[in-house]
Amino acid sequence: MMSPTSSADGVWRNLRLAPGLAVPDVALPAGELAAVVVQGGMLRWVGPTGAVPAAHAALPQHDGGGALATPGLVDCHTHLVYGGQRANEFAMRLAGASYEEIAQAGGGIVSSVNATRTASEDALFALAAPRLQALLDEGVCAIEIKSGYGLALEHERKQLRVARRLGKTFGVTVRTTFLGAHALPPEYAGRSQDYINLVCQEMLPALAAEGLVDAVDVFCERIAFTLAETEQVFRAAQQLGLPVKLHAEQISDMGGSALAARYGALSCDHIEHLSQAGIDAMQAAGTVAVLLPGAYYTLRDTQVPPIAQLRAAGVPMAVSTDHNPGTSPCLSLLLMANMACTLFRLTVPEALAGITTHAARALGLQDSLGLIASGRPANFVLWPVAEAAELAYWFGHKPAATIVRQGRVANDGMGICAAQGARHGA
Ligand code: NIG
Ligand code: FE
Repeated sequence: MMSPTSSADGVWRNLRLAPGLAVPDVALPAGELAAVVVQGGMLRWVGPTGAVPAAHAALPQHDGGGALATPGLVDCHTHLVYGGQRANEFAMRLAGASYEEIAQAGGGIVSSVNATRTASEDALFALAAPRLQALLDEGVCAIEIKSGYGLALEHERKQLRVARRLGKTFGVTVRTTFLGAHALPPEYAGRSQDYINLVCQEMLPALAAEGLVDAVDVFCERIAFTLAETEQVFRAAQQLGLPVKLHAEQISDMGGSALAARYGALSCDHIEHLSQAGIDAMQAAGTVAVLLPGAYYTLRDTQVPPIAQLRAAGVPMAVSTDHNPGTSPCLSLLLMANMACTLFRLTVPEALAGITTHAARALGLQDSLGLIASGRPANFVLWPVAEAAELAYWFGHKPAATIVRQGRVANDGMGICAAQGARHGA
């Protein structure tokens, strides 16, 4: 299933650093090509190719030939682990049904819950692995994976364990998010408060104790959980010292984002109906706005998130696939960058920061991911493109990139290593 990888240790010369996504140790004169030094799996030096310190001369040398270099991509919002698929709902929506109507008729999230509950851990792993591989093949180096299709302790555990196992097996940073409050499971119909008590008092503490939870999320919406229920989950997370994030203001303005900001949320996600008060609260708390154009597109939403206001307020904007079987069966983060520009009017630099720097911040990983800078684990992608805008411009196309993930050459699509015949560790 997995291709063999080799150490990325070496001097990678003749690169063009994507504007705004790298912090060189030595300033780059205009037009000069850059080099990055990888040693022990870490970025050790970034600067002009002509100024690589002599101490690194003995390392393998790789000629990037002018390739564009970006940080490894970060997909900061996914529901990657689930059973079944929901193409039937796609057909229902084509026939005129809305997301809310499908959910109220017992479809939607609950139908994925049934398929996830009946699947074994191994079966869920086998289903999620090719999805993850598709994202990795495009340059993703870190990914968030949520639970939320189990909605019972043993099934939420199963999803989160698969997420951890994916990270180990594929050599990719996986951040797990407990989304027990995603939907009301059928056996709790009419007993929302009882279910939230179970989430807060049993499920979350047990899963956190097992080391399966990096963050806690809630779907705060009129078809999901109320503001008060959301706050109860946030309090439980806070007591365990876990950061929170929120599916907020997707269908209506519930005020969820302002609440999340009060709990210092890492991110508020979707936010098509976000108010100015929500924006101000997020700005004050340093909360990232995660834009999910795939769900917007699938649901044929017409309410664009308040991009100009977020920009004016200086709220960092991330962009993610929201990969899930209902509203965003998408496995291309570059397509999401394209849609963030085309549908939401992000600029290209905003979209590229959205799938790197700001996505890392949405996971609390801004000090180790999302920028090419020395002192960080080596995660970068070399692209065969003339300008950075091409990454958001092409769609339905996977560029043959060379991908360095966690200090390993995960993919040498540009043939840079092969061409050099450079020495590589096993
Ligand atoms: O992010 N909004 C809620 N959760 C998912 C959809 C999940 C589903 O429909 O299965 C989302 O869009
Ligand atoms: Fe989601």
